[in-house]
Amino acid sequence: MVTGAASGIGLAMATRFAAAGMKLVLADIETAALQRALAQLQWQSAQAIAVTVDVADAASVERLADAVYEAFGATHLLCNNAGVAAPALLQPTWENCLEDWHWILGVNLMGVVHGMRSFVPRMLAGGDEGHIVNTASVAGLLTGSGPYFASKHGVSCLTEGLYKDLKAAGAKLSASVLCPGVIRTQILDAERNRPTQFGGPTDMSALSEREQQWTTGFRAALEAGIEPSVVADAVHDAIVADRYYIVPAQPEYLERIALRMADITALRNPTLPPKK
Ligand SMILES: NC(=O)c1ccc[n+]([C@@H]2O[C@H](COP(=O)([O-])OP(=O)(O)OC[C@H]3O[C@@H](n4cnc5c(N)ncnc54)[C@H](O)[C@@H]3O)[C@@H](O)[C@H]2O)c1
Repeated sequence: MVTGAASGIGLAMATRFAAAGMKLVLADIETAALQRALAQLQWQSAQAIAVTVDVADAASVERLADAVYEAFGATHLLCNNAGVAAPALLQPTWENCLEDWHWILGVNLMGVVHGMRSFVPRMLAGGDEGHIVNTASVAGLLTGSGPYFASKHGVSCLTEGLYKDLKAAGAKLSASVLCPGVIRTQILDAERNRPTQFGGPTDMSALSEREQQWTTGFRAALEAGIEPSVVADAVHDAIVADRYYIVPAQPEYLERIALRMADITALRNPTLPPKK
């Protein structure tokens, strides 16, 4: 069961799992793209169903779990992957509007919480071996002051806790955290799925010049980013090896993570990024 399966990393993971012979449930908020993804996988002979879900809504995720158990009777692999980012990703805390906070934390963090609450008890009760992969980001290992970084830190924290809880309970389930670097997906156009209750899609022409420059630069970086299929292969291999950290990222991110960890253990103030 993969959330955010209609695009990007989620679709690549579903495709990789289908190639490994798994039965699939594709879940996403964008119904038309989801149906296209389903048709593509079924054309490749995958046994799959698609369920429209809003992971930010606990009741919607509970209905998804009901549909999964009705269709297949078990879940052996749970990928809480759906996620969103606002174009003004680098705005400081005090400049992000409250709608940004509620939308991004609702999808990226509460979406994972809802997935774990609706599926993990049923997976434990089933008594089979299984694995949970929660998609965080290198943003969950590095820092920034806006909601995207905060949401991804939440995911990396609760997934490590989940891993420890499962091992302590002697469960047949294990967990991994997926922390991608810059991957060639549609994440920068996440606002296509931003509900009106969270302010609806941002008027891009209203962004400041700095934000527009950053958005243009990040779009180019995404275009040149790692292919989602590379991420999917890394996830597949990590599940087989029961490896917790999955970090398909550009080398500079690993260097920045090492520097941050060194700052913490040396009790020195955070190293500032070089001035651009
Ligand atoms: N692309 C990157 O560089 C990158 C880097 C690190 C982490 N990530 C994370 O990877 C995950 C997948 O993103 P992606 O890069 O493939 O982007 P994407 O936009 O291509 O795919 C995300 C999918 O999530 C779905 N989605 C959005 N809101 C939803 C909701 N409320 N309920 C259900 N589905 C919803 C979208 O419809 C879309 O199909 C996200 O959690 C993202 O934060 C991406």
